[in-house]
Amino acid sequence: MSTNRRQFMLQGAAAAASLMSINSFAKAQQSVQTGLAEVFRQDFQIGTALSNKTLVENDSALLSIVAREFNAITTENALKWSEIHPEPGVWNFAPVDNFVEFGRAHNMQMVGHTFMWHRQTPAQLFSETIQQVDHCNSCHSYQKATSKKALLSALETHTTTVLDRYKKDIYTWDVANEVFEDDGQWRESEWYKIIGSNMLEYAFRFAREAHPKSCLIYNDYHVEKPKKYASIIEKLDAVQKKGVKVDGVGIQCHIKVDQNSPSLKDLETAIVALSQSGYRVHITELDIDVLPNAWEHKGRHVNELTDKNELNPYTNALPPSISQQLSERYRSVFELFIKHRDKIDRVSFWGTTDDESWKNGLPIAGRTSYPLLFDRKKQPKPAYFAVKNLRAAPTP
Ligand code: GLA
Repeated sequence: MSTNRRQFMLQGAAAAASLMSINSFAKAQQSVQTGLAEVFRQDFQIGTALSNKTLVENDSALLSIVAREFNAITTENALKWSEIHPEPGVWNFAPVDNFVEFGRAHNMQMVGHTFMWHRQTPAQLFSETIQQVDHCNSCHSYQKATSKKALLSALETHTTTVLDRYKKDIYTWDVANEVFEDDGQWRESEWYKIIGSNMLEYAFRFAREAHPKSCLIYNDYHVEKPKKYASIIEKLDAVQKKGVKVDGVGIQCHIKVDQNSPSLKDLETAIVALSQSGYRVHITELDIDVLPNAWEHKGRHVNELTDKNELNPYTNALPPSISQQLSERYRSVFELFIKHRDKIDRVSFWGTTDDESWKNGLPIAGRTSYPLLFDRKKQPKPAYFAVKNLRAAPTP
């Protein structure tokens, strides 16, 4: 046994001791060599997101954990419009090519994220510069919204170019992301302002035409809010009535350690409603936040704020009591997912180790966050064993 493997098992063992009986602990020790994907093979795929950093730097330590633990991977950023297609005619395929190469080598389900989103999309897509010569022959320029026709043409070209290149390998696509507000209304994004309420139909149509056999899903946060999932179902049904097949809905699942944010009951109601309406459920970006809410300070650095210690309370380590709460929350959401395994195709985490999570930098920069299953030393946390033990534990 390699030193790394032994260290991994010993640390995992210590972390898990408080949560498990001696018997189940022994079983988990055996199964540490088996990743989560293997343990949940009968339930759903288990995925993670790969960052550009991991893909470009070829972080082999992290990639070996990903290869062991997961059987699905999503591009965290590499396929967002600003990353892969920063300017008209300029394409940055290299990180996605690395992603595909890794996915192929490890026989992973690959997920592409995303074509239509209001963020991480170049501003020039939505406006054009008009040059005007006035009566004194001096030249002025001004910005005007791109026409609907031009924006649709850009979306079609983008979608088709990306799918033509990757359709052999990437089967599942988050076609559109975060199109609705929590109350179910259309988000007033540039996409919506220019194209209007058939924007989703176009996005799914272009993707379906370019890749007819793919699994195409709609992705959003707070899907458990009743008005939001009702609206998603209504709008996707309208797309399907126009003859464009939509396979599923991605529930991002960026949730909090607090049992009410959201409640399991709300999550369950949404999963059941989506499934009853014919949509496969994908949990697409799971992470669990233990830090206080800081959205009112969005965009700031924690060190600029007077209550920086309260907003960033665990700079050295996660106290055991909070770690236990995190494990419990992970265990309970996975119990729910297992209960609805007939409706859920995939459960993907939004990253693998705590240090790579977006939660360290958003909504405010400079915090130390603990939302995932592996710590900053790439070791499995108690939460990892809490999840794994749901399937790895022996029957008494
Ligand atoms: C949303 C997006 C992700 C990621 C996260 C955090 O959930 O779908 O791609 O950007 O926000 O930034």
